[in-house]
Amino acid sequence: MGFDANRPDLLIGVIGAGAMGRGIAQVSAVGGIRVRLLDAKPGAAQEALKFIDGMLKRAAEKGSMTAEDAKAAVERIQVVEGPADLKPCHAVIEAIVENPDIKQKLYAELEAVLADDCIIASNTSSLSVTLLANKLKHPQRFAGFHFFNPVPLMRLVEVVEGILTEPWVGDALMTLGKRMTREPVRVKDAPCFLVNQVGRGYSLEASHLVSEGIASFVEVDRVMRDVGGFRMGPFELMDLTALDVTQPASELLYTQFFHEARYRPSLVMRSRLDAGILGRKVKRGFYDYSSGEQAVPPEAPAPTARPESVWVSKAETSGHTALMQLLDKLGAPVETGAKPSAKALILVTPLGEDTTTCVLEQGLDPKRTVAVDTLFPMVKRRTIMTCPLTEPAYRDAAHGLLASDGVPVVVAKDSPGFIAQRIIAMIINIGCSVAQNQTSTPADIDKAVTLGLNYPHGPLAFGDRLGADKILKVLTNMQRVYGDQRYRPTLWLSRRARLGVSLLTQDN
Ligand code: NAI
Repeated sequence: MGFDANRPDLLIGVIGAGAMGRGIAQVSAVGGIRVRLLDAKPGAAQEALKFIDGMLKRAAEKGSMTAEDAKAAVERIQVVEGPADLKPCHAVIEAIVENPDIKQKLYAELEAVLADDCIIASNTSSLSVTLLANKLKHPQRFAGFHFFNPVPLMRLVEVVEGILTEPWVGDALMTLGKRMTREPVRVKDAPCFLVNQVGRGYSLEASHLVSEGIASFVEVDRVMRDVGGFRMGPFELMDLTALDVTQPASELLYTQFFHEARYRPSLVMRSRLDAGILGRKVKRGFYDYSSGEQAVPPEAPAPTARPESVWVSKAETSGHTALMQLLDKLGAPVETGAKPSAKALILVTPLGEDTTTCVLEQGLDPKRTVAVDTLFPMVKRRTIMTCPLTEPAYRDAAHGLLASDGVPVVVAKDSPGFIAQRIIAMIINIGCSVAQNQTSTPADIDKAVTLGLNYPHGPLAFGDRLGADKILKVLTNMQRVYGDQRYRPTLWLSRRARLGVSLLTQDN
C-alpha cells in the first residue's frame, strides 16, 4: 500500500484555509509540493492564497528566498471548490474547525472521492486520532499531522499514529514533513499527543502554586525566566494563548486521562475564565494590557537588614555546599558549630520539602528558619521561603543578605519544592511518563519539546542536568508532604535515577 512521498509530482489537498491551513499550504508549496486548497467559506481560500503571496513576497524582499522561488511556490497552490476536486491527491490534510462531528462528516465526503490509499491526516490539536478515524471505511490510512502556530516559524510537526494507522502512513508523513522543511517527530496517539502534554505541566503546576498563595503570578514568571531559563513565564504565556484556549484544553486533557492527578486543572483558572479575564486579546489577563503593552508591577527593593550570624543546615549535603560557597562570596558571618547559636538566622536547603517539615524533622527554631532553593544556579535570581512562624525580621535579614550582591530574591510562602523545583520536576516527570507510555522515543521527546515549546532543554535532558536523583527526591518529598499522588515519580524516572543512568536511556 501507499505511494512514494518523495515523488516529484506529489499532490496534496489542504482543507481549511484558516490560521493553520494557510501555513500548511505555504510550507508545502515552498517545499516544492503542489497543493489544492479548499475552504467551505466562500472566498476564504482565495483570501488565504493572497495572504501567502504577501508572506512569500516579504520573505523574498528580506532575502530569505528568491523572488522566482516565491512566485513558483505561490503558483503551486490551486484554490478548489469542493472535496471532489481533491480526487487526484496523494494525501489530504484537514485543518478545519476543532469539532469531531464536523471533521468526521468531512472525512465521509472525502472517502467517497479519494483513492483508497490517499492519506487523510488531521491537524487536530486535542482530539483523539483513533476516535476521529473510527467511522472511516479505511481507518488505516488516517493519522494526525499536528503543526504548531505560526506554521512557517514553528518547524516541529507531530506525526500521530492512531491504533489502526498503518506504518506506511507514518513513514509517508515523516517524508512529507521533511519535504515541507519541517522537523517531523513520530508520536503514538495520546491525549494532547507529546508536546502539549508536557507543556501542560508548566501552566498547571504554576497555576496550582499561585492558587495555594505560595507566590504571585509575577513572582512565578520572574523565577521561571531567571532561574528556570524559560523564555516566557507561565502566566505571560497563558495571557498570550488566552485562558479560553488553555483552560478548556487542560480540562479536556484531565478527562481524557481518566482524572490522572498529574493533569488536575486549577479552579482559580476556571474562575478567571468564567470572569472573562482571558489575556492579551481582551487587554486583561494576569497582567494589564490596557495601554497596549504588558504592565509589569515593579519589584520592591531588597531590605537593608542583615543577620547577626548565619547557620546552614547540613541535612542536604549538596545544598549546604552550594549555599556555603555563596555565603562566603557575600562575606556573611557564618557559624560553623553543630547547632545554631541562640540568635542565628537558620538556613535550610530542602529538595521537595517545605520549611515546616525541615524545622520539625531537624529540630530547628521555626521563628528563625528560612529555606533557600539551591537546586539551580543562584546567579540571576534566588528563591527563599519561610514557614508560618518565621519572624519577619529573620525573613528580611535572609532576603537582605542574599540580595546584597544585587541579585534579586523572591520570597515565597512555605511550599514543598519552592517554585522552580516543583514546576520543573513536574515537567520532567511528565516527560518521563510520555516515555514510559511509549508515546515517543526519549530523543524525540526532548527534540519535540525544545522545538515546539522553546524550553531551554527537553524534559529528559533537563532531569539529567539537574540530577535525576535530585528530581526523584523532590518528587518523593512533595508526594509525602502533600499526600498527593499528583507528585508520585514515574517508574521511568525512579528506575533510571536509582540505577544512576541518563533519563534518555531506553530499555535494552
Ligand atoms: P481557523 O478557524 O483559523 O480556520 C478554520 C477554517 O476551516 C476556516 O477558514 C473555516 O471556514 C474552515 N472550515 C470549517 N469547516 C469546514 C469544512 N467542513 N470544510 C472546509 N472548510 C471548513 O482554525 P485554525 O486555528 O486554523 O485551526 C484549524 C485546526 O487546526 C483545528 O483542528 C485546530 O484545533 C488545529 N490547530 C490549531 C492551532 C492554533 O494554534 N490555531 C495549533 C495546532 C492545531
